[in-house]
Amino acid sequence: MQIFFIKSLLAIVLLVLSLISIFTMFEMFGRAERKFDPQKLRKTHRLSGMVFFLLSVAIAYICIDFLAKTKAEPSPRAAMHSVLSVAVLFLLSLKILFNRVYRHFYAQLQTMGLILAFASFAMIGSSAGYFLVVSKFGREMPAPRSVEREKDAGQEGAVRTAKTDPMSIARGKELYESKCTFCHDPFSNNTITGPGHKGILKNPLLPVSKKPANPENVAHQIRTPYKDMPSFSYLSETEVEDIIAYLNTL
Ligand code: HEC
Repeated sequence: MQIFFIKSLLAIVLLVLSLISIFTMFEMFGRAERKFDPQKLRKTHRLSGMVFFLLSVAIAYICIDFLAKTKAEPSPRAAMHSVLSVAVLFLLSLKILFNRVYRHFYAQLQTMGLILAFASFAMIGSSAGYFLVVSKFGREMPAPRSVEREKDAGQEGAVRTAKTDPMSIARGKELYESKCTFCHDPFSNNTITGPGHKGILKNPLLPVSKKPANPENVAHQIRTPYKDMPSFSYLSETEVEDIIAYLNTL
């Protein structure tokens, strides 16, 4: 199962926890008559808050680890999502501090709770929500971002050739292992997040886009990916050529 799908499932748990927190807060402060035992409400609120906190730190770790390993360039959506996540963690830490230490701010907690809920929904919607909708709940991968891209890739033809000198291949292998193995298996055709790369340049067609398998189209994929692979447009021309030299040996 791919990491984005697992992350989305965890996000659904976060969503449920947010709803529990809001509900318990409303029941505690929202009306005069008591329907539930206030002690129980407080306990549930605290517990769901704690689990929310730990789970979001764990998810943040997965994301940061992913970015650090791949140095993938985040899309505008991913950038907005990370800003919202930082805001959520910041607000939640502040809320715990106001509740435990800086008690003079206690009166702010309810307003902060509402802002926190809003930020959490926006955070979940901008990532898991998006992913689950475009992938039909994990059943298929999103449609191409743009049809234009396919057009210009198909016409470029095989003007490039893969380098074959051992130095390029060795440098390419190193780059590949640090940036690509997170999602691609070089020794099989099994899909991790992206398709396996065994024989990628020996087969007639690329596995997902079904464009001709040639160095030009692979270079194009690295810079302007077909669907939801992150772009590696920051790589230099030589680095891309080295990666292709390595892919050519698989
Ligand atoms: C975050 C996961 C991820 C990373 C990291 C990643 N890819 Fe991909 N890759 C994908 C996915 C998903 C696809 C399926 C096509 C798409 O979505 O663009 C793919 C497809 C491909 C394809 C086949 C494209 C086609 O037209 O069928 C190639 C070649 C490729 N990746 C090369 C690379 C290289 C080289 C790197 C490292 C520089 C890399 N990928 C890093 C996820 C990733």
